[in-house]
Amino acid sequence: MSGPMWAKSAQKAFLFSLVSSRLRGTDSLSGLLPVPRRPIIDMSYSAHFIDFKGSSIASRMKKVVVNKLSPKFREAASVQTVPVPTPADADLLVRNRFVGINASDINYSAGRYDPTVQPPFDAGFEGIGEVVGLGLTASSRFTMGDTVAYFSSGAFAEYSVVPAKESVPVPSAKPEFLTLLVSGATAYIALKRLGDLAKGETVLVTAAAGGTGQFAVQFAKQAGCHVIGTCSSNEKAAFLKSIGCDRPINYKAEDLAKTLKTEYPEGIDVVYESVGGSTLELAVNCLAKKGRLIVIGFISGYQSASGIPKFRGATLPVKLLQKSASIRGFFLPHFISDYKEALTQMMQMFATGKLMCEVDYGDLAQEGRFVGLESVFRAVDYMYAGKNLGKVVVEVAPPSNSSSKL
Ligand SMILES: NC(=O)c1ccc[n+]([C@@H]2O[C@H](COP(=O)([O-])OP(=O)(O)OC[C@H]3O[C@@H](n4cnc5c(N)ncnc54)[C@H](OP(=O)(O)O)[C@@H]3O)[C@@H](O)[C@H]2O)c1
Repeated sequence: MSGPMWAKSAQKAFLFSLVSSRLRGTDSLSGLLPVPRRPIIDMSYSAHFIDFKGSSIASRMKKVVVNKLSPKFREAASVQTVPVPTPADADLLVRNRFVGINASDINYSAGRYDPTVQPPFDAGFEGIGEVVGLGLTASSRFTMGDTVAYFSSGAFAEYSVVPAKESVPVPSAKPEFLTLLVSGATAYIALKRLGDLAKGETVLVTAAAGGTGQFAVQFAKQAGCHVIGTCSSNEKAAFLKSIGCDRPINYKAEDLAKTLKTEYPEGIDVVYESVGGSTLELAVNCLAKKGRLIVIGFISGYQSASGIPKFRGATLPVKLLQKSASIRGFFLPHFISDYKEALTQMMQMFATGKLMCEVDYGDLAQEGRFVGLESVFRAVDYMYAGKNLGKVVVEVAPPSNSSSKL
């Protein structure tokens, strides 16, 4: 995937298109977990009826808006105070409790996904919260007080209007559910569809202690593989051990290339690769015969103007041929037909204690826990400083109820 290809192949925003192209069709997802329903008693409401019953909604709210295209999130975006939006007939108004930070938040703010989207536009891909208002059509599947998780553009806001069809009912507003929507689904589907994992194979996961890496480690382990995970601290290495990683490698303390060569002379069968640049080169060099490398991302380039890290690829065909190895790209929106099964399985695994969903609230960040929308900027910096252990989330403080909409 290269810069120009982003524009072409993505056509739509990454997570954004995932939502709009398919979660729109995931009505069935609402059946994943039973949520008690309030029966609709009065069907004589007009098509424009909006139910705010029992809600206490402020008239104004904060949201993060991209005003200028840039991968420097602080330069690109700012917090604005705007009226709380009103949901349309098929929409939910969600009071966000938590929003998820993704590496691609800065790709989106740089306009790399959909060149037709020009500033100002709303930032943030995913949230979880409570339904505080909804239109009549939406009320056939949801009711006031339901908890939903969603990914949809504009999640970095105190309240978001989300199409009901793009919302997944969840039992509670636990941020763990947020970790599954994109980070978990990416690992689950990529390894299942492109990994061809076989018991006893060796799997290398880069950025293994991060949002999606933590899931790749666990799914590869569940497939009976020997799992190696790269990370940048001993604390992350200990975490990786705790989720079943056989050989965490803190690349700041150990020479990654040397360690892989010495300890895995036969090479690596499957690589789940998120970093790009020199890490990708190193991973290609370590591939075993018939090895498969899955390109999940290339975060080491995202902060640059082009978004693409340097890669010396001239000898790539030789290396692949000599080992009958392959490199496969994975982009979640292209695997939407696998999405429902992935989410169902992961939710079950989480409910039965078979899947760890590590969340990083920023408790160890310099200015403490990420609370309030202003913390989104600190949270993005924190991720790009490589400090996060698990999925980065921001707790969105509930707005003041002083000027109620009711
Ligand atoms: N293809 C898809 O559909 C898809 C979907 C979701 C995510 N992704 C990709 O998955 C990757 C991880 O995304 P995420 O949101 O889950 O983030 P994350 O892993 O929670 O956080 C990023 C981690 O990357 C590591 N990293 C290594 N080199 C880095 C660098 N030069 N700058 C910053 N971080 C660096 C850091 O861990 P260490 O310090 O421990 O190395 C950091 O904690 C990204 O490449 C993203 O684009 C792809």
